[in-house]
Amino acid sequence: MSNKLIAFYSRADENYVNGMLKTLKIGNTEIAANIIKELTDADLFKIEQLKPYSKKYNECILEAQKDQRENIRPELKIYPENIDKYDVIYIGYPNYWNTMPMAVFTFLEHFDFSNKIIKPFCTHEGSGMGSSINDIKKLCPNTKVEEGLSIYGSNVKKSVNVIKKWV
Ligand SMILES: Cc1cc2nc3c(=O)[nH]c(=O)nc-3n(C[C@H](O)[C@H](O)[C@H](O)COP(=O)(O)O)c2cc1C
Repeated sequence: MSNKLIAFYSRADENYVNGMLKTLKIGNTEIAANIIKELTDADLFKIEQLKPYSKKYNECILEAQKDQRENIRPELKIYPENIDKYDVIYIGYPNYWNTMPMAVFTFLEHFDFSNKIIKPFCTHEGSGMGSSINDIKKLCPNTKVEEGLSIYGSNVKKSVNVIKKWV
């Protein structure tokens, strides 16, 4: 049984890849999460909204922006039963409007991460981790939040060595 958990949010469907709209079968953050899984043998959990954002990129960005402006906590489909057995939690997410998707806020508020270690990783198209590290620290005040890893979404498949070093 692993004492490590990878909890990640990722959206496949329509997204920008090198300046062009493409439909992705697996989201960038999910690819990174799978690489971390290979390297650590941690348990894997996908953070999913009960009502997912639109498959259409242009609609999704408006929905996500509205949730962020209104500080919404989208309801999640399911949670891990409990996280007591985990000492290290890798939290993965795409950068949405300079921070995490609001569903990740829902997830982080649901559990008590006191005395655990959080290792944040993020995929993005230029903004890096944005304000996400500070946001995680605010949501999880008694948690050791380690240095984050940010990866360009379009480079994720080529980032095994960078991920390995960070892990
Ligand atoms: C709603 C939305 C907002 C985004 N906002 C940003 C942003 O502020 N900065 C940035 O660098 N990338 C932004 N992106 C790009 C994503 O962070 C990037 O494509 C990421 O790799 C997507 O990960 P995923 O495929 O795992 O969902 C945004 C994408 C979406 C859909």
